[in-house]
Amino acid sequence: MNEALTKVWSEEYQRKGIPSSFRKDPTRALVEFIQWYQNKKLPPGCVADIGCGQGRNSFYLAAEGFTVTALDLLQGNADIINEEAKKRHLPICAYGQDASTEWPIRDSSLDIAVDVFCYKHIVDKEAQKAYRSELWRALKSGAYYFISLASINDGFYGPLLGTSLDPARKLIVDPHSQIPSFLYGLDDLVGEFSDKFNLVEAEEKRSTSPMYGKEYSRSVLNCIFKKG
Ligand SMILES: C[S@@+](CC[C@H](N)C(=O)[O-])C[C@H]1O[C@@H](n2cnc3c(N)ncnc32)[C@H](O)[C@@H]1O
Repeated sequence: MNEALTKVWSEEYQRKGIPSSFRKDPTRALVEFIQWYQNKKLPPGCVADIGCGQGRNSFYLAAEGFTVTALDLLQGNADIINEEAKKRHLPICAYGQDASTEWPIRDSSLDIAVDVFCYKHIVDKEAQKAYRSELWRALKSGAYYFISLASINDGFYGPLLGTSLDPARKLIVDPHSQIPSFLYGLDDLVGEFSDKFNLVEAEEKRSTSPMYGKEYSRSVLNCIFKKG
């Protein structure tokens, strides 16, 4: 399973069809979350960037004073980040691993965890559950989790629900890359996390962005959860 996913993700980083495969600037919603966090006068601490890609958000977090642990399915992405972090003397340590297996992070050590468009790509409900337990284990009590993912109303992914092989779980497959993902409505997302986490903020944000060279109207869910 992971071999097939590693293959399609590696091909996507060659193709650079979706914005996170080529953008160097951090995700705007993540920047807004960090500003929200800083406005609370909370000091930077330890953060995990789950499904970090080639590190655009990890480098931003390090520049804001955080010590970053970054995880990505692709060892190649982790290697790129570690090399760049070493050159720039930044406190980032990246690992190539599946985020639904044990994280290389101590219990109750994270002030923040962030996930920009990774959780939705873990297309197995048991694996997502294992990810949520690692998240809960690694966060300090009172720590925050920021998650961003495509909503069912998204202009690129949403219409693919019409040909879903598992519509009950809102499973779609990107026809350009063959990368699978789950789509979410806000209730679905909050429902999956609410047994262990408290919802702090939620928004559905609209924008436009290029997918495979064509502009689409996008609709993204951004949520902040708190442990305990
Ligand atoms: C859409 S990209 C987003 C990358 C990054 N968060 C960003 O915004 O630039 C999703 C990333 O999640 C990674 N990924 C997919 N499934 C994963 C899994 N089970 N565990 C860890 N990473 C995964 C992919 O390799 C890819 O780099």
